[in-house]
Order: sequence, then structure tokens, then C-alpha cells
Amino acid sequence: MCGIIGIVSKNEVVNRLIDGLARLEYRGYDSAGIATINSSEIVYSKSTGKLVSLKNKIKENPIDGHVGIGHTRWATHGEPIEINAHPHVTKNVAVVHNGIIENFAEFKDELLEKGIIFNSQTDTEVIARLIEEKISKEKCGPLEAVRLTIEKLRGSFALCFIFKGFEDLIVVTRRGSPLALGFGDRENFVSSDALSLSIFSKKICYLEEGDLATLTSDEVKIYDSFGNSVFRDTQILYTDPINLSKGQYKHFMEKEIFEQPEVISQVLGYYLDAFEGTLSLPSLPQSTEIKRIILVGCGTAFYSCLAAKYWFEGLSGIPTHAELASEFRYRSPVICKGDLLIFVSQSGETADTIGALRFAKKYTKNILSVVNVEQSSIARESNWVFPTKAGPEIGVASTKAFICQLIVLKILNIKFASDLSKISAKHRSNLLNGLLELPRLYAEILSQNENIKQLCKKFIGSNSVLYLGRDVLYPIALEGALKLKEISYLHAEGYASGELKHGPIALIDKSMPLVALNPWSKVFEKTLSNLEEVKARRGKIILFTDKKGRELSKDLTKSIFQLPSCSEFLTPILYSLPLQLIAYYTALDKGTDVDQPRNLAKSVTVE
Ligand code: AGP
Repeated sequence: MCGIIGIVSKNEVVNRLIDGLARLEYRGYDSAGIATINSSEIVYSKSTGKLVSLKNKIKENPIDGHVGIGHTRWATHGEPIEINAHPHVTKNVAVVHNGIIENFAEFKDELLEKGIIFNSQTDTEVIARLIEEKISKEKCGPLEAVRLTIEKLRGSFALCFIFKGFEDLIVVTRRGSPLALGFGDRENFVSSDALSLSIFSKKICYLEEGDLATLTSDEVKIYDSFGNSVFRDTQILYTDPINLSKGQYKHFMEKEIFEQPEVISQVLGYYLDAFEGTLSLPSLPQSTEIKRIILVGCGTAFYSCLAAKYWFEGLSGIPTHAELASEFRYRSPVICKGDLLIFVSQSGETADTIGALRFAKKYTKNILSVVNVEQSSIARESNWVFPTKAGPEIGVASTKAFICQLIVLKILNIKFASDLSKISAKHRSNLLNGLLELPRLYAEILSQNENIKQLCKKFIGSNSVLYLGRDVLYPIALEGALKLKEISYLHAEGYASGELKHGPIALIDKSMPLVALNPWSKVFEKTLSNLEEVKARRGKIILFTDKKGRELSKDLTKSIFQLPSCSEFLTPILYSLPLQLIAYYTALDKGTDVDQPRNLAKSVTVE
């Protein structure tokens, strides 16, 4: 799972390849590399670690050329060491790859038997070696060599190649992993995503499954999987290039947390007319025809699906399931007429979610997606798209995109409930007005960030933290624990409060911090009883509650953070915010790499 880029031009490309890679680093950042053709020869530079190491290396030992390919890696096969970094280079070809070649081992064995020596532990080097054979032994041209080689490959790939002796050519192909082409003035571009191309070109097209293309500085030719010359629709990108500035903040994550009042107003403004109190929604299926909803996502996006399950069943009365994308497609789920499938994803490129969506498409056309990246594969392959309008999210740990997912799902929930006459016009208008309170409530909580920072001190010396929530705050507890794990590397688990006594309570002792979400609600007293059980075992409780909850919990713990009182309908959105801050400040304290935590990538494009 990686980011790949290529530029073929009449001008130098190396600095621009690095700029493009900076916008792809969200796809992986354990090593990076660039290859170009100079005086007909392949030259390359690779480095482990972040892109900045490659940049420095190239500053010391410059490479240049008018054609080049670049890569930023998230290791799948082989450790993140320099020999495994891309491009993989043989005498005649250099390749960068995003994806996984499932049958690489059988080819590797054959090549080893023939005496070919491998330099890396990657699946990708096999592709370079197979193509090298086609060129040097079978005398194939570049396009033919690629075509014949990919015929044999199983798995997913987006590939870019340059060739010795070809100073004005890139060959690209894709299956399973996305590739976008950008058209410039006497130069052309290719990348894993269109947004990274937006700094070079506004005119883009997406390659389709199995496509092969050749790019020269003056021309792009595209062929389908049967070798026929084809046209793919071009489109103009209206989005601004990704802004890579942190402004006044130390980290993107901090910026993304603190800009949420604005971002929430933005998404609400997109879907609601505050003045008229009306919804203005993209087209969507008839509510009366929806018999069941199946929400699918991964990680944080899955937790927004889980929260929406509570909402859709609670308010709209529609039977709803929340599914992990990576499980969904492999467990033979039953998809019936009348099912609405909702795929939730920030990036819109998560391989598990795309796989689940394609699986579902075999059974139904009722595919709706809730995505942040509107040009993404998931958006393009859905029949209805609800954008989350959070703006580019750069920090690997999702914050504002999660909140916007919750808001969009909430809006859909109100729409369904109202169409199905489950709520009155007055109730509907109260709910919509409630949403409009969110930016103010968020700003209020953010102004107390120092108090939340203090609470994080409770984690000092602990190896593990438990998060508890009941009802619709249970998914928020899961998300809070995930956030802490991701960026502070502190072990954390989320539990439904009522589940504690069924096992996890064995973990409680005086060194165990437990974050509890318990505002006044229909389940307040039940959770309070669960927390008393924790107190009796001397667990350190950090409680997030509202005014009434605080009064009723004063004997429970001294570590209480009081949130503004709000309707139960808003608590999941509100209580997510302090948990984001807890994760951020804990990570800050531990000195971890907040925006690019170890082993992770923003967009997981392999299964
Ligand atoms: C969130 O903090 C995580 N980095 C991760 O769980 C993420 O939500 C998941 O990989 C799904 O990504 P997506 O929303 O881009 O599909």
C-alpha cells in the first residue's frame, strides 16, 4: 500500500516528483524513492524513513531527468529497509508499485532456478525481473513487455515503469488499485490519486480496471485489458490542491481537531438551510423502499457505522447492521431486495471497503457512500454520494472526518425518520436545530483544552487504558480507544459499560485508568452502577459527563470533565471531541510522531 507518481515532460521532473510524493505520503511513509532516465540510463535514489530523508539525499547527490517515477512506501512484503524501497530497478526497467502480487512466489522460484539474483524481499521486484526477461531475452518493446507480464499476475496493482533508452516514455497499468492521469502542456502525469496531481494539472482522467497506458510528453494512449485503444472521460478538478500547511499548529491532527467548529458549520451548511430549517440533500433512494440498511466501513469509519446503527434503528425504525468491510465480503452476507448499502470512508480508497462495495454491487444497485474524498474510487463506484465536506484530512488519526461522517449519517437518519413519519415536523425541526448548536458547543469544549490536558496525567505510568460507554456512546468509547492506541502507542480497549463485568473487570486495579462517558440519559444509572464496580476495585476513573451527571457522580471520582448539557441525540458527536484531545495530548507527552504514527498509513489500499 503505497503512493506512486510519474511525470514525463520537456523539463526537469525530480523536484516535482518530490512535491507530488509529499501529497501521497498519507499512503505510506516508511521509505521513498525516485528513478529517472538520464543520458538513456536509469538513475535512482532511495531512502528509508520519511520523504524528507530522500529529499536530503537527493540534495547531496542530485539526480535529474525529463521523465521519472516516484514512490512512497508502506511495507507489505519485506521490512522497511532501503533495498525494499521502490523503485525496483534492473538493467532495462524501473518500476514503482502500489498493491500486492499474490502469486509472486511461484515466479520468484522460477527466476531463482534460472540463476536470477534478487536484491529485495518484495513482491514488486518479481515484476521488474519478469519484464527484464521479456526485454532482454525475448526482445519485446516496453508496452509489450508490460502487457505480457501483467497477464500472469494475480492480486492488485497500480504500476508505473520507465525504461533504459526511453527518455520520453512512462508505461502504466492498473488492476484493483487506482491510477489517475493528469494532462499538461507538453507534459503528462500519473498518480495514485487525482488530488496529488492537482498541483500540476486540473485536467485528469481515471484509468479503468485492467487499463494500460503509455505517456509521452506530447501524448497519452490508453488501452483496455483486451489491448483495444480506448478513451477515458476527462474531467476538470475543481478542488484546491491539498494544503500542506499546519498554520499556527504543531501538528495536522491538532489543527484538524481545532478547526472542527468551522468544519462542522461547513458540512451543516452544505446539507441544511438554517434559515428555512430545510434539508437540501443529494439524490437518494426512496425512504419507503428501504427495508434494511447495511453500513460498511473500517476502523474509525466502522465506528461511525456502529453509531449510525443505533440511530437508524432508534429514530427511523429501519433494521440496520454495521459491518466491518474486511469481514463482510468473505462471510457470504445475505443481501436482499430493499437493502440499502451505505459505505463509509474518509479516503474512499480503503481496499477492504472497495472490495466490500464491489461484492455488494453484484447483488444490488442500492449503493450509497459517505466519503470525504469526492473524487475517490468509492465515490465513483457508488450510485449515491453524500460527501462529508471535512476538507483534506492529513493527520493519520481521523478526527474531523469522523465527526463529519457522524453528522452526515445523522442527517440521513433524520431524513429517513421524517419520510417514514416516525417523527413529527416539530421533532424534525428540533433535531435540525440541535445540529446547528454543534459548532458553538465544540468551541466551548475546545476552550477548555487545558483541563483535558491535565486529565491525561492520570495515564502516566499505565500500560493500558479502558474506555467505557453505553448505548450510542459505546461506539464512541471504541473510537476513543482506537485514537489513543494509534498515536500514543498506549494499549487501550473500548467496552460497552455493561460488558465490563463479563470479563474485562479482571483487569481493574489501582494502576488502571478508565475513561467513562456517562452524561445524564436513560442509561445513566446503569453505567453509574458499572462505574461503582470499578471504584470498588480501585480503578482510576476519568469521567466525562454533563452538569446533572456530575452532581450524581461526585462521590465516584475527582477526575471529572463537564461537557455542555445537550440532547442525547448529540452526545456521540460531542463526547468524541475530548477523546480526540486526550489521545493528542497523551501522544504529545510521549513524544510520538502524531501525524504519521509508526506502522500506519492514512489510506490502507491493500487487503
Ligand atoms: C482512523 O484514525 C484510522 N487511521 C483508520 O482506522 C481509518 O479510519 C480506516 O483505515 C478507514 O479509512 P477510510 O475512512 O479512509 O476508509
